[in-house]
Amino acid sequence: MSETMQQLHETVAYIRQLVDSEATTGIILGSGLGNLSNEIKVEKEIAYNEIPHFPVSTVKGHKGRLLFGELGGKKVWVMGGRFHFYEGYTAQQVAYPVRVMRLLGVKTLLLSNAAGGVNKAFKVGDLMIINDHISMFTVNPLLGKNEEEIGTRFPDMSEPYSKALIRKAKEIAGANNIFLHEGVYTGVTGPTFETRAEYKLIHVLGGDAVGMSTVQETIAAVHSGMDVFAVSVITDLGIRDEENVITHEEVLQAAKDAEPKLTLLFTELIKTL
Ligand code: HPA
Repeated sequence: MSETMQQLHETVAYIRQLVDSEATTGIILGSGLGNLSNEIKVEKEIAYNEIPHFPVSTVKGHKGRLLFGELGGKKVWVMGGRFHFYEGYTAQQVAYPVRVMRLLGVKTLLLSNAAGGVNKAFKVGDLMIINDHISMFTVNPLLGKNEEEIGTRFPDMSEPYSKALIRKAKEIAGANNIFLHEGVYTGVTGPTFETRAEYKLIHVLGGDAVGMSTVQETIAAVHSGMDVFAVSVITDLGIRDEENVITHEEVLQAAKDAEPKLTLLFTELIKTL
């Protein structure tokens, strides 16, 4: 067995010994979007630094704990705080918790993130369902030896985000008066926000939003056969004529303000799973 598989099995064994229950839904929450975990009837909370082989989150606004509990009447695993490539983790480390969730039995993965809008119709606080992504030079987490136990060497990526989940989410949004965009998320490494020229480039290339997460997790999830649903909260606008200095604080605040809509969407979506 490869070292990675051995580590994954050790991580999973540790978690299973603490939580003797199954969940088929996993959630990873983005920057400033950790409050959804307050809606969860928590049965178990495990600090990342207690979990063997788990990376540890270092970013402000990220809570480093894995939760197990109930949301929308379903058992869920929730990561309050994810791992980013810009923190210095490898792409494999960023994807590690996704693989752990898969081995724990998760079939559907819900992701949220804060993102910059590059579609001219977007406003700060809008939600965008991700219907496709562009990796803008992010490192693929599947580089290296393929773990056959998890998935195939050359995974198809023609439809990384589940059409069925997108359809359901749109129905939920319609019924609850939540306005949603749908579009292409462009994954970058960060940690710099983009230059004006880069935001324009991303727009020209077909991106609607840009952010520093999600793509690597989605790739790992699709590789392992999960259904993925992901939403961006538009926290700043890359394409604008006036002054556009962007700060992390502004991003966190905008995410927090938009969060209730996202919480409702995820909770209602989980009810349908
Ligand atoms: N660019 C990249 N990542 C981001 C942005 C952005 O404008 N906003 C939030 N995350």
